[in-house]
Amino acid sequence: METMYIFYDGKIVPENEVHISVRCKGFNYGLGCFEGIRAYWDEPGKQLYGFRMQEHYERLLQSCKTLYIPIPYTADELCRATAELLRKNQCRSTTYIRPLAFKGSNQIAPTLLDDDNRLVIYCQPMGNFAGKDELRVAVTSWERLSDNMLPPRTKPTAAYLNSGLASLEVVRRGYDEALFLTRSGHVCEGPGENVFMVRKGKLVTPPPSDNILEGITRDTVMTLAREELGMEVVERSITRTELYAAEEVFFSGTAMEVVAVVEVDDRTIGSGHQGPVCRQLKELFFQVATAKLKKYAGFCYPVY
Ligand SMILES: Cc1ncc(COP(=O)(O)O)c(C=O)c1O
Repeated sequence: METMYIFYDGKIVPENEVHISVRCKGFNYGLGCFEGIRAYWDEPGKQLYGFRMQEHYERLLQSCKTLYIPIPYTADELCRATAELLRKNQCRSTTYIRPLAFKGSNQIAPTLLDDDNRLVIYCQPMGNFAGKDELRVAVTSWERLSDNMLPPRTKPTAAYLNSGLASLEVVRRGYDEALFLTRSGHVCEGPGENVFMVRKGKLVTPPPSDNILEGITRDTVMTLAREELGMEVVERSITRTELYAAEEVFFSGTAMEVVAVVEVDDRTIGSGHQGPVCRQLKELFFQVATAKLKKYAGFCYPVY
């Protein structure tokens, strides 16, 4: 296998030279937070574009601040380091980038009070993550973590056990993906994606106060719906049965991109197929991500 390079402790090094102890607190207790970023390959222009990298790194730095895992870089420096890493690995296809900040010490106490803060960034090719264009979804019996437990806004590594339990439950029952509700029964998000519905012609999505991750794809979708489709976009709480009555439901996320949800809890949504709003937003999203729309050129960070 070809040597893969990763960014670790301020340097780009071969992945097999990095050894992290089994005693590491980040590993034992999930004391960490992370990002997921995509870089899109544009074949005609032979260019790789990091998608909204600056915003992803700003979100990571905010998460690190909240969780007391400070890392000594600016968002700008992290963008530059990531571009260097992508070049070093000669990435020439759409790539997923994983920056992960964690507590590296081997102390047994799960405290956040020590100074051993580390950052690793690795990358790997990633195509269509969902594997399907239309998903069947079910509400999980697992409740989404709240801001006062383990703030989903910070993308904490430990929170993905909550995501994993939800996915396990519904995938074993034959669905494609899970949907979380909050303790008060509001629609929240998927295990790794935000949710939208089209209801009476408006695009509606849960607000940050319903314990969602404030997704960067979500923000992109809201912008494109307003600016390019002229739609009214509303952030408000959604109840479960409102989804059953929606014209369309879809997910958004870095890995999932934009993907239609055609069934929720065995109720067909709209026509039972990807609807026109989802289709248009998906097409626009891919145009933006590969720097085809000048207006959104600022979202694309050229690597080469
Ligand atoms: C729990 C959760 N919600 C939403 C998202 C979507 O966020 P983004 O669009 O920034 O990738 C993700 C993925 O990062 C996620 O893990």
